[in-house]
Amino acid sequence: MNKTVLVSGGTGFIGSHTAVELINAGYKVIIIDNLSNSEKNIVDGIERITGTKVIFEQIDTCDIKALRGVFDRYDFDSVIHFAAFKAVGESVSEPLKYYRNNLISFMNILELMKEYTRHNIVFSSSATVYGDADVLPVTEQTPRKPATSPYGNTKQMCEDILRDCCAAYPVTHGIALRYFNPIGAHPTAILGELPRGVPNNLVPFITQTAAGIRKELSIFGNDYDTPDGTCLRDYIDIVDLARAHVAALNRMTDGKMTEKYEIYNIGTGKPLSVKELVERFEAVNNVPVPHKYAPRREGDVPSVYADPTLANKVLGWKAERDIDDTLRAAWKWQQSLS
Ligand code: UD1
Repeated sequence: MNKTVLVSGGTGFIGSHTAVELINAGYKVIIIDNLSNSEKNIVDGIERITGTKVIFEQIDTCDIKALRGVFDRYDFDSVIHFAAFKAVGESVSEPLKYYRNNLISFMNILELMKEYTRHNIVFSSSATVYGDADVLPVTEQTPRKPATSPYGNTKQMCEDILRDCCAAYPVTHGIALRYFNPIGAHPTAILGELPRGVPNNLVPFITQTAAGIRKELSIFGNDYDTPDGTCLRDYIDIVDLARAHVAALNRMTDGKMTEKYEIYNIGTGKPLSVKELVERFEAVNNVPVPHKYAPRREGDVPSVYADPTLANKVLGWKAERDIDDTLRAAWKWQQSLS
């Protein structure tokens, strides 16, 4: 069995943690990344944690000529495709940048997999594909609502592209993992989330505020129809999320897929409000996070959380890390940066 896997976007937040878990599970990892939102030294971090040398090439997945070279040089049968832009707000102001990057990179990978007869691909999808769902928790059968941003639209489109390629090409087998809200850091504090500029996502903003880099956290909206008026989300630990990729890949490489294209929710199934998350972070880390209530943020859905039963049953994967440990790891990582 070919246990070599190409990881596009492998120096990013989710990609780097996944590379570690793949290596721990006995896979050989080839990382490609254009370093547009990450640093080369992340590769050193992966190697330090695993004690294993990693192949890294600085390549843009949109550059099909360079990507073809990777397919020529390495013998792998599986790909995990993370390489994509992910800032929701930026996607609204620069839609073409998002459509071009996220769609072309994915189609290049699928094109070359078909040409070089490479079988398995895991795609990074997102809970964003559900939009403002009518019924919670969402299952994989919950109808997708129209995307609220070009970023979300690219996730929906890539899912559709993958579904169609799996249906049309005998060689292509795909799994889309719909992530809920990935947070935390590696327990060693060697890897974590490295947002450039002012963070958009909640937890990096919390850790930077606790560290004094930001003056105050704004909690966007306290008048939602939720128990405490702030939004509900399903926060999934980054190491748990990384392990879901290993479970998906094992299923593919063991030839256990029953459909050519499968979708799984990757979440805890336990919603937390923004207010609860902030207070929990303060309590477990014994550090204040100055915060105030601010108007709702455009494009936010009031509540979204997973029914992860399918992934639990079929992938044999379950979120295991305690939220308190996740919030401790996020703080330890932030402190390691100063
Ligand atoms: C967004 C994306 C999601 C993506 C995720 C991780 C959408 C609609 N959402 O999720 O696809 O997977 O990022 O990159 O496409 N909040 C504050 N103050 C802040 C920041 C956030 O109150 O300074 C609140 C938000 O209003 C929200 C919650 O915290 O209720 C989580 O926000 P965020 O971390 O940005 O993730 P999502 O918007 O849920």
